[in-house]
Amino acid sequence: MRIIFETPRLLLRQFTEEDAPIIYKLNRDPDVIKYIHEPLLENETQAKKILTDIILPQYKLNLGRWAVHTKSDYEFIGWCGLKYISETGITDLGYRLLKTEWGKGYATEAAQYTLIYGLRDLKIKCITAMVHVQNFASIKVLEKIGMKFKKETIFDAQPVKVYTLSLPDVNNFC
Ligand SMILES: CC(C)(COP(=O)(O)OP(=O)(O)OC[C@H]1O[C@@H](n2cnc3c(N)ncnc32)[C@H](O)[C@@H]1OP(=O)(O)O)[C@@H](O)C(=O)NCCC(=O)NCCS
Repeated sequence: MRIIFETPRLLLRQFTEEDAPIIYKLNRDPDVIKYIHEPLLENETQAKKILTDIILPQYKLNLGRWAVHTKSDYEFIGWCGLKYISETGITDLGYRLLKTEWGKGYATEAAQYTLIYGLRDLKIKCITAMVHVQNFASIKVLEKIGMKFKKETIFDAQPVKVYTLSLPDVNNFC
């Protein structure tokens, strides 16, 4: 198991091909993907394809969506991480948690440490996040971790807010 980093309450590790059941558990919940332009998963075979086609290839860049576990009991609660989007050249911050884990501050904690890891350790110049304009919980997370609102635009035919953070900002933030 490749651990990426720990936070006070969480551990972030790389996914493996064996993690299809937990990706399925996450992406079969309509409430989890409500503001995300992705189809509801119907089985673990589809989840495995997401792992092999989308998640695992990002690890070659030292980036990726990482599985998030609570340190107290090693329960899987979701994922958080950085993804390079070649079409736009941006490094995207994303997170997604099981509904049972919402409202405990976990997304904020995972995202805050992911930002610091990306900017300071990976030396990424700028990290971007895009959020559906009605995804108020996610907007709150981005604002709590100090990301700066840049603009509203249309992405994948959805109205989104774009937030960014770069190294001088993170120094001020921390
Ligand atoms: C977005 C998501 C990761 C947030 O996870 P979380 O663990 O609940 O987030 P946190 O507890 O760290 O913080 C959420 C904040 O939003 C607030 N919030 C939640 N719902 C809200 C709403 N409808 N309106 C306004 N604020 C809201 C919470 O009160 C909290 O703020 P606070 O700490 O000041 O009280 C979670 O809802 C999720 O997985 N959603 C589905 C996937 C998704 O949308 N990912 C983001 C794509 S951009």
